Amino acid sequence: MQERERNRIIAKEYEVIIDRTEFSAVGVGRSERGVHRVPNAFPGEKVVARGAKKKQGVAYGTLQRVLETPYSGQRLCKHFRLCGGCISQHLSLEEQRKLKELEVLQLYHDKEMEISGYMGIFGADQKYEYRNKVDFTFGNQMKGGPLHLGFHQRGMRRNVIDTSECLLIHPDLRKIRDVVVEFASEKELPFYDIYSHEGLLRFLLLRRTEFTGEIHIVLIVSSQGGVDASELERRFQQLELVGTIKGFIVGKKDTIGNFVGYEDVLFLSGKNYVEEELCGLRFRIYPESFFQTNSAGAQILFSKVLDLMDSGDVLWDLYCGAGTIGQIASKKFRKVVGIELVEEAIVAARQSAIDNQIENCEYFVGDVKDAIEAELPAPDLVVINPPRSGLHPKVTKILLNIAPPKMLYISCNPKTQVRDMETLKEKYKIEKSFMVDLYPNTGHVETCVLLSKLDVYRHIEVKIDMDELI
Ligand SMILES: C[S@@+](CC[C@H](N)C(=O)[O-])C[C@H]1O[C@@H](n2cnc3c(N)ncnc32)[C@H](O)[C@@H]1O
Repeated sequence: MQERERNRIIAKEYEVIIDRTEFSAVGVGRSERGVHRVPNAFPGEKVVARGAKKKQGVAYGTLQRVLETPYSGQRLCKHFRLCGGCISQHLSLEEQRKLKELEVLQLYHDKEMEISGYMGIFGADQKYEYRNKVDFTFGNQMKGGPLHLGFHQRGMRRNVIDTSECLLIHPDLRKIRDVVVEFASEKELPFYDIYSHEGLLRFLLLRRTEFTGEIHIVLIVSSQGGVDASELERRFQQLELVGTIKGFIVGKKDTIGNFVGYEDVLFLSGKNYVEEELCGLRFRIYPESFFQTNSAGAQILFSKVLDLMDSGDVLWDLYCGAGTIGQIASKKFRKVVGIELVEEAIVAARQSAIDNQIENCEYFVGDVKDAIEAELPAPDLVVINPPRSGLHPKVTKILLNIAPPKMLYISCNPKTQVRDMETLKEKYKIEKSFMVDLYPNTGHVETCVLLSKLDVYRHIEVKIDMDELI
């Protein structure tokens, strides 16, 4: 048989018994054919996987059916498997967290790095209705099918499923979603087709803060037609909600692409932001600025981060978003410097600092890789909380040159964190570490490592100081 033939597994089904998972929630097991990697299958499960490509002796398959499972939890969501989210809802929170923990520790182990001072995995108790934000897309599931509003079908770029019962969000948001669907269907408003670029309705962005119950609605449309926003708002006002609607925006987006944002405001009623309370402070959240999506989990994360910080002179809060970490830590430092790419987030951070009567935080809009080259006061501690892509090589290099005594690297993607740690370990060791499960029922987890400069570098610095004295 030709090598190429041998390495191909034609779309055939295999029974696979899963022994372990790799990040993120990729089951690894055996069939009579050999080793398989099956995303979203869990240890102890016997599953049917459809074979796909074979790489280095391992077949990558897609999960077709679960034949046997040791997990007793129910799959409550009616969109399970069609939607790409909530893949592990039949596992208890404890079981989910144990697997996430093992997956991340394995990533470090594979690169022969020690994740020292490991404190464990933490998280809030809510398994469902923990998300304070959701971005729904308008579309349909099949050509010519009825209007849907929800998430993309698993593995399908075009198809949108009608996610009427997403259990990750508060019932208030589900009611608002239903009103929008009813309104759009009644008025026969067309959805925007991502291939023909024709149509009106694009996205619905909903927020409901956990601790203050403030709701914000953003409907994003193209300029191909109009929406009677006042009538839609009247329908929102008739809803019986637990929280309070603070603002409603209709935004216009004509640019191509699935980025949920808008270029112009066509209609605004009420405020263009909501406020959330975390760790005793209040934070503004504008529609396009980042905010942790699990408020109760974020509060646990930020409290633990605060516990790991010694007091000092200057704190850099890199990728600071709406300024949460820096402001929560502001009492421990004389000065806090926050850097963030999105201007709206910096507007939120500055305003929240005023509202919280915090005067020692200074914010800069810019790309971290350029901004940290500027004349900034030398930091005692640098907090790094980048997006999933991790650190730009230029950032890692500058951090190694500046070499602050300590850094706290908080990451939502342990793969890029481990990659960056392979460079940072030149001068840093992990002193303490922990994880927080901000994303129950999914394969994702937040990992935090406290880095301290290796002793050898401390000694070199001391020696230089001594030389200068002589
Ligand atoms: C994971 S969020 C962290 C936000 C904040 N630390 C928090 O916990 O709320 C990452 C943030 O980095 C920002 N960002 C992404 N790329 C950036 C860059 N190159 N330079 C500066 N900020 C960036 C994003 O806009 C986002 O606000």
